[in-house]
Amino acid sequence: MKRNIVVLGSLNMDFVARTARLPAPGETVLGDGFQMLPGGKGANQANAAARMAAGGTVVQLAGRVGTDAFADHLRASLAASGVDTAHVEAVAGTSTGIAMIWLDAGGQNSILVAPGANECVEEESVERLRPLFREAACALFQLETPLPAVKRALQAAREEGAITILDPAPACPLPRDLLELVDWLTPNETEARLLAGRELPPAAMERALLEMGARGVVLKLGAAGCFSGGELAPGFAVNVVDTTAAGDTFNAGLAVALAENRNTADALRFANAAAALSVTKLGAQTSAPTRAEVDAYCSFFVP
Ligand code: ATP
Ligand code: RIB
Repeated sequence: MKRNIVVLGSLNMDFVARTARLPAPGETVLGDGFQMLPGGKGANQANAAARMAAGGTVVQLAGRVGTDAFADHLRASLAASGVDTAHVEAVAGTSTGIAMIWLDAGGQNSILVAPGANECVEEESVERLRPLFREAACALFQLETPLPAVKRALQAAREEGAITILDPAPACPLPRDLLELVDWLTPNETEARLLAGRELPPAAMERALLEMGARGVVLKLGAAGCFSGGELAPGFAVNVVDTTAAGDTFNAGLAVALAENRNTADALRFANAAAALSVTKLGAQTSAPTRAEVDAYCSFFVP
């Protein structure tokens, strides 16, 4: 049985500043803490998947970095979590992607991404990932790398028999021929609204997104959990410190569980638990739980 997980996506250095409240346009506010932490939606998903994977699953990340100190730091931290970064290539003369993250007292964030090298993932280059997709149970994608490359990679992953999971973040309209390549589309509420072009209750939203071409939909609903197959999978109640990358950890948990051939209900519970644990800690990758933590949490707590 194929168990590997392949992620195509972004790597960013996150500049995280905490503040009691976010500044209004034109206003300066004094914050109360700053850290540089590894991030980027692709790297976050690979990192969390590697921490939660079990039984010989290999997690491989493909993406682009610049030729700067951030690149070295991001690779080293991913390697420490067990991610295979052989397909993270350095692009001469570019800077590694960065994200400026403002985190308010309630754990909510605002994020500005300067993509840098992440924009250099070329459509043709993803063909080199075919052998990886052939050995993969799941392939994970997001939208911080160029859309033509994401689409071509979705096509290759589908042709090679991997389950394709697309996190449509940051939100952008998506064409039907791309959505038809997606086995699990996992928007949050904002992304779902933008894709469907209107606000809808979860059941109607799921139907609308299925009608747009995706084979399966999981609506991520923040603290409430997620909605799929006409049912709510309730979230776990936790103390919120930082919600950054909750969605990435959720997608990683979903992929890990599906790669183990678990049923959908089980996979959604595992993903909710992983994501809930991640919001109790600061940072995008530093907050990702280990497999032991998720298993222990799932066996002691009910949503
Ligand atoms: P991100 O903050 O990474 O952008 P997102 O906006 O993509 O996340 P959310 O719906 O906010 O997605 O959260 C993803 C998942 O994380 C939820 O489906 C849920 O499982 C979990 N989660 C998020 N916030 C909380 C919370 N406050 N308490 C418990 N679980 C949470
Ligand atoms: O999903 C969270 C991530 O979004 C952050 O790590 C930041 O780098 C942005 O890409």
